Amino acid sequence: MLTLSPKAPFLYKPQNPNPKTQHYKQHINGIYCKSELQSERGLEFETGETFFRHESAKGRDLGVLAASLYNQSKGKLRVLDALCGCGIRSLRYLMESKADFVLANDANDEHRRVILDNLKRVDRGFGDERKWAVTHLDANRVLSECYLQKDFFDLIDIDSFGSDISLFLRSAMNTLSFDGLLYVTSTDGHSSGGHHPDHTLAAYGAYVRPMPFSNEVGLRMLIGGAVREASVLGYYITPLFSYYSYHGPVFRVMLRVNRGKLLENRHYGFITYCNKCGDSQEFSWAELGQISCSCNGSHDSSALVISGPLWIGPLHSAAYISEMINLAEEWGWIGNGADTDLEKLLKQMLDESDPRLKSGYIKMDEVASRAKINSPPLRTMMSAMQKVYFSLGTLHRDLSRTRAHDGMGHYGKGYATSRSHIALNAIKTDCPMSECIRIAKELQGVNSFAV
Ligand SMILES: C[S@@+](CC[C@H](N)C(=O)[O-])C[C@H]1O[C@@H](n2cnc3c(N)ncnc32)[C@H](O)[C@@H]1O
Repeated sequence: MLTLSPKAPFLYKPQNPNPKTQHYKQHINGIYCKSELQSERGLEFETGETFFRHESAKGRDLGVLAASLYNQSKGKLRVLDALCGCGIRSLRYLMESKADFVLANDANDEHRRVILDNLKRVDRGFGDERKWAVTHLDANRVLSECYLQKDFFDLIDIDSFGSDISLFLRSAMNTLSFDGLLYVTSTDGHSSGGHHPDHTLAAYGAYVRPMPFSNEVGLRMLIGGAVREASVLGYYITPLFSYYSYHGPVFRVMLRVNRGKLLENRHYGFITYCNKCGDSQEFSWAELGQISCSCNGSHDSSALVISGPLWIGPLHSAAYISEMINLAEEWGWIGNGADTDLEKLLKQMLDESDPRLKSGYIKMDEVASRAKINSPPLRTMMSAMQKVYFSLGTLHRDLSRTRAHDGMGHYGKGYATSRSHIALNAIKTDCPMSECIRIAKELQGVNSFAV
């Protein structure tokens, strides 16, 4: 076990500082808070001059729920909050998830007084009963020190800026207990938007180009980067939930890390978007060299945009989200008709977990613009897509779609659809854009074959 003294044990003076991780004393866009008393889920704390955002409360709620589920199922919980800011997450993991021990670390030692004052609400304890400790090291340093001391953690929370997360993934995975949870954050909207493909390649091992569903690509890029790091160490990861929030933007993913291989690179591949027809597809590594779009655009190579390798599997585990919903209900965070933002988010995540849904989403504005019609309401469109073989698609039955035929002469399962928690007026689906256009036109009473 790493022996941490109550006072800052390692005063980190890097001999070879990594220029990418030296911005923790900068004040970014004035987001660093002036000290005032804050409250979250009934817990009071102060923020001092630390970087703190109210808008991240939902991300903290999700982390606390996951940590509590871990504690309930394993009967233990040690958390490393590697970039703790004012220490609010550490406090919540201690008070709400009943963590046995939390190591709160922030490279900026000027935050020490605020962190200590906030954590003081929990009796620190001594020896084996010690509940928390505070350090001020570069995140990689604290993770590596713990790993070298065989001091493993059940949940490691890395709430980092930009694409810094890619610097910490390997040391975090090394320091995680077997079957542990890694909660990672990126705020790199330029990379997800496809504006810095060379940087994205360096950070996440993925070449990312602009696509209409770039904020989902941001989550898939982050998970894909973790898949790559995990495989180097002989681990595989399972995304339990993925959460995009527009403020920042912020991309957060909770990953379960296990020993073993990702089977046949399943769910780690390429996503295409055809600028000509608007369709997007997924391709495996084995299909490299055969990537094309079935529309005429395939002859125009500039129309087809390819990004990858990215995570192309489900963004969330349906079973896990159900457990989170149950716990949130038990705690009174959701339910009783309160209809909170957290409830909406968790329910949308559950819908998005349908494994039939393809990567990305289709924006209704794009459908309307390609169809040259006013957009039908989102719900009407989704319901028509689900029933496409019954009410709208009799002329278009595609019997080769195995899902549409149960072998006993029954048709009509239609397309899978879900709203996206990422984009308001968009649909996640396995329906191609050409079909969406046809359905939207039929809904608006426009003849699909009219020129
Ligand atoms: C986004 S803030 C943390 C916010 C906090 N987790 C919360 O929920 O309120 C990031 C923090 O990381 C610290 N930091 C930046 N780079 C770091 C590094 N390389 N190692 C450790 N801490 C770092 C900064 O001082 C800052 O307090």
